[in-house]
Amino acid sequence: MPTPAMLAAKTAELTIGDCKTELPVVVGTEQEVAVDIEKLRAETGVITLDDGYRNTGSVKSDITFINGEEGILRYRGIPIEQLAENSTFIETAMLLIFGELPSADQFAHFRSLLSEHEMIHEAMRHSFLGFPATGHPMAILSSMINTLSCYNTDVLEMDDEKDVENAAARLISKIRTVAAYAYRTSQGLPLVYPEPEYSYCRNFMHLMFSSPTRQLEFDPDVLRALSLFLILHADHEQNCSTSTVRMVASSGANLFASCAAGVCALWGPLHGGANVAVIDQLQRIHHSDMSVPELMELVKQRKEKLYGFGHRVYRKYDPRAKILRQHVTKVLDKLGKPDPLLDIAKELEEVALSDDFFVSRDLYPNVDFYSGILLRAIGIPTNMYTVMFAIGRMPGWIANWKEVREANSSIYRPRQVYTGQPKRDYVPFDQR
Ligand code: SDX
Repeated sequence: MPTPAMLAAKTAELTIGDCKTELPVVVGTEQEVAVDIEKLRAETGVITLDDGYRNTGSVKSDITFINGEEGILRYRGIPIEQLAENSTFIETAMLLIFGELPSADQFAHFRSLLSEHEMIHEAMRHSFLGFPATGHPMAILSSMINTLSCYNTDVLEMDDEKDVENAAARLISKIRTVAAYAYRTSQGLPLVYPEPEYSYCRNFMHLMFSSPTRQLEFDPDVLRALSLFLILHADHEQNCSTSTVRMVASSGANLFASCAAGVCALWGPLHGGANVAVIDQLQRIHHSDMSVPELMELVKQRKEKLYGFGHRVYRKYDPRAKILRQHVTKVLDKLGKPDPLLDIAKELEEVALSDDFFVSRDLYPNVDFYSGILLRAIGIPTNMYTVMFAIGRMPGWIANWKEVREANSSIYRPRQVYTGQPKRDYVPFDQR
């Protein structure tokens, strides 16, 4: 925690050998203190080095606040617990993108845009047939988001808030359709059209599981669980995929290209892909290929990671994991569908949180530890879990893309410290 003197300091002094410089100090809304190194190289010829950006703030952002030591997460200042309790995914999306909770009229207008843009171009429906049934849904999702830009050329250049609202509604609405179509095509199932009067989540489940001959209805608890899942995944400050979206946005690339890049970054098992890796680990224990103590041993020998555990920012229990843990138990009880994987997850958590290996490294459950069990409960296939994460994160990516554009950010182009070969001459082939 910064001391009062640190909070009052206007500058920080840096001395390197006989070179001394003063750098401005920036203090954030929640008393985070940063040294602004914008002029460091110009004044000293020196740069900083920070593997994995562990200590580096890339931007001043108004969107999301996390306090990792206290386990706090707020979207535009509103605690995640209150949004989880009271909001819907679309209302939360509007809060993140436009900065305020919408009025009834604003919400109705945005909903009408979502309905207007829920279909994809008929020619795009055939694009799915070009993917093998074994194609990973994340590969399909990222390529189809870029394909959307070919059919939505009128929103590639945005001049005002209206254009952003239009593009945001299209992307949020169509990613749902694209994701469901990717799944159904991979299963050889016929596609259905969205229903304009359905809510966002009901329409997604309809697109995923209804057929042209059978219109399914869904338990309100299932729809509420899906909305909660999406709210909890909607944004998370400068994580790997959001930083990727901002990096691509900073080159002037359009919203679709930036978000398609975000999907690719999210795919990794250290990031959004962890929600699938968690289920794989729990399944291995459930099918007795491995016991909890054996997994713990492998983790301590660094032969395995405990997926769904640990976080770059949270040094406490991820507040989203806390909410998911409570909710998944409620949903399974309500649906009368006990899941042995939940019992195994709770056992793993109990063992880990009483083991010094985890406690000494501040390793607690993160958002991915229970999220897959919730998706299992509502019938989502495992290979779609990271796609669900991407659908949830879309509003956060859009909000960050918008913030880069509005700030007229310069292009993101980090420096490096070169540690390769010193200058040497070319050696002709016959002398090598
Ligand atoms: C998400 O950034 C975000 O906000 C991401 C996210 C979002 O909403 O966008 O919250 C979503 O990506 C959540 C994280 C999902 N990933 C996983 O669950 C994968 C498992 N977790 C780890 O790989 C790891 O904890 C990370 C990637 C999440 C964080 O990695 P860091 O900050 O680089 O931590 P580290 O690798 O430096 O670990 C510090 C120590 C190391 O041990 P030592 O070298 O000190 O002995 O902790 C160990 C690590 O080996 N460690 C783990 C571990 N996580 C860290 N050991 C076993 N299992 C783990 N899960």
